[in-house]
Amino acid sequence: MTMTREQAIEAIESVMAGGYGAEGISFRDVMVRDRGVSLTVLGASAAAQPALEASLREALAPLGADTVHCRYRDEGAPAAGGAAAPAGNAAPGTAGAAGSGGPVQGHGADLISPLLEPGSGVQFIAVASGKGGVGKSTVTVNLAVALARKGKRVGIIDADIYGFSVPDMMGIEERPEVVNERVIPIERFGVKVMSMGFFVEDNSPIVWRGPMLGKMLRNFFQEIEWGELDYMLLDLPPGTGDVALDVHQIIPHSKEIIVTTPHATAAFVAARAGAMAITTKHEIIGVVENMSYFQSASTGEKEYVFGRGGGGRLAETLHCDLLAQIPLGAPDNHPSEPDFSPSIYKADTETGQLYLELADSVLTRCE
Ligand SMILES: Nc1ncnc2c1ncn2[C@@H]1O[C@H](COP(=O)(O)OP(=O)(O)OP(=O)(O)O)[C@@H](O)[C@H]1O
Ligand SMILES: [Mg+2]
Repeated sequence: MTMTREQAIEAIESVMAGGYGAEGISFRDVMVRDRGVSLTVLGASAAAQPALEASLREALAPLGADTVHCRYRDEGAPAAGGAAAPAGNAAPGTAGAAGSGGPVQGHGADLISPLLEPGSGVQFIAVASGKGGVGKSTVTVNLAVALARKGKRVGIIDADIYGFSVPDMMGIEERPEVVNERVIPIERFGVKVMSMGFFVEDNSPIVWRGPMLGKMLRNFFQEIEWGELDYMLLDLPPGTGDVALDVHQIIPHSKEIIVTTPHATAAFVAARAGAMAITTKHEIIGVVENMSYFQSASTGEKEYVFGRGGGGRLAETLHCDLLAQIPLGAPDNHPSEPDFSPSIYKADTETGQLYLELADSVLTRCE
């Protein structure tokens, strides 16, 4: 059984009618994906939240909702994010949560990062795909570095909280410092990077409940000392799950790039991520087709190992442009090099050039 958004809203309204509404609590931004419902709740005090969440879960479970994800906002609170971190908060939620494996510190959801204000001048770009393993992270890190090579101030949020891979791909071995209770992102190839991977010991798996993911993501905005940025890239986990939803809600003005391989199935599945971007009114900048072909070093001939045309067709479906076709082939980097990274293509390589061209296409579409 799949519940519709209307059914979910009806159930939420019935909960509100049961007294919460009279207390001045309201809701908006209801979204239904698979077996999860998320919504923004306005005007609920911290004390009222647990009972409210329990009532919502109870009301939505019969419709088939396995998870209910509330984001709390103070109604009428100033949109400006001048609010300081709560006093007495010893460690940033990110570091604290990961270090102890315990739950994330409860922060008021009204604590908004200046980065997220529409007037901040930061252009957010989420890199998404329907299918795993198509090269989202590879495209994210290389596009970020290419934008930095073009002189832009760039950050990356590795929003793949379970399957973080950005630190390894960029060859980052150090861990961020905490200064004045703010986490300083790691800078690599001119890009500021934040990843859950920085807070996990020995690659141990992270196990926590869905709602914590959103909090973690918020912490990445609120408790990180990003400084001034022109572009913030988000490496999303595969699919159209919880984190993608959080991104849609936390950064409604984010644009998206959809990554696919030339394979028809991959493109078809990627279309779902695109469809989600469209429903949530995220502008799709375009499609990047990765692993498009293999170019023989000796003959220069292109072999279309994974088929042809997936990226182009997907772009057509989503009414956007095919921004780049990136060939197969890992960067020819060596661990003995001073600035070694396994996944960043050097600027003077063919693929490095393609990423610079991709950066140009992105810049013209964003500026
Ligand atoms: N153009 C390419 N040529 C060769 N290998 C590539 C290319 N792009 C990505 N890869 C490799 O393919 C694998 C998957 O890439 P990547 O991790 O970027 O995909 P992803 O979509 O982020 O995956 P996940 O869904 O797991 O997050 C990695 O090992 C990466 O190094
Ligand atoms: Mg990835």
